[in-house]
Amino acid sequence: MQSATNFILNGEATSVEARPDTTVLDMLRTKLDRKGTKEGCAEGDCGACTILFKRHGATTAHPEPANACIMTLAQVEGGEITTVEGVGNGVMSDLQARMAENGSSQCGYCTPGIVMALSGLLMRTPEPQEDEIHDALAGNLCRCTGYKPIVDAAKAAVGEQLYGTAKRGAALPFSASASVDGSTVIRPHTVDELLAAKAEHPEAVLLAGGTDLAVPLAGYEAEWREIITTGTVAELRALHATATEYEIGAAVTWEELMHAVADDYPSFATLIRRFGSTQIRSMGTVGGNVGTASPIGDGPPSMIALGSTI
Ligand code: FES
Ligand code: FES
Repeated sequence: MQSATNFILNGEATSVEARPDTTVLDMLRTKLDRKGTKEGCAEGDCGACTILFKRHGATTAHPEPANACIMTLAQVEGGEITTVEGVGNGVMSDLQARMAENGSSQCGYCTPGIVMALSGLLMRTPEPQEDEIHDALAGNLCRCTGYKPIVDAAKAAVGEQLYGTAKRGAALPFSASASVDGSTVIRPHTVDELLAAKAEHPEAVLLAGGTDLAVPLAGYEAEWREIITTGTVAELRALHATATEYEIGAAVTWEELMHAVADDYPSFATLIRRFGSTQIRSMGTVGGNVGTASPIGDGPPSMIALGSTI
């Protein structure tokens, strides 16, 4: 079993030796000295810690915004992380320059997260409508500037190339397990492997997106000795539509489901759009939302109303 976690950081192959239950925010700031990514709430609400993330094996072209404070090293093996230090290729990106010019930043604490959330939007949607800009900022709190100049800067930056390096997309080794200082992660590829791992490690945390489960970790109120990831299981990442129903793998994210059902169930898609923020929806999963059995879980009421079965 290996001890390092391997991923691409801002275009460079990177290897970190740290417990798999270390948050990505802690890893960036304390292990890699990338202090541009900020900590505000440490529970997925404020967006100060926003990074862009492309998971191992992702089929989408672009990375998605995610909250580094509630994401763990267990989840990033073989993936690609971009921090605020990685936009603009060493000079300010067009978005950053426009935000600096028009006073989009005062204390600046929220600014890196806002840059990353908007960079994610502009990469997905080069000419976003105003409501898409507002949606992209739904997970980012700014208490002192106000959003108008920020939205104006995003509008002005429409169509700009935000970043890109030739090194991105490099093939990385993918380790199915890692163990450091008493914390172990197992990353199964099939449901059978997952069930076998769970039988062998009955106390292991089943980690999907971690948007709920990882909040105590971010507050240093918990540690995980054993972790089994669900996002590495191909069957659980599958989303099939038939003539009569959708079959949704437990590790499908809410952002993926929102786009998939937009034509057939527009009101369900509208409801999902209100679910957390882009950062939360791009990591949080349908199975995780059911599995955590939270009394304030957003998914189950509408899924019950739609006649879903598990
Ligand atoms: Fe607030 Fe991560 S620090 S969302
Ligand atoms: Fe101060 Fe946004 S510029 S919180």
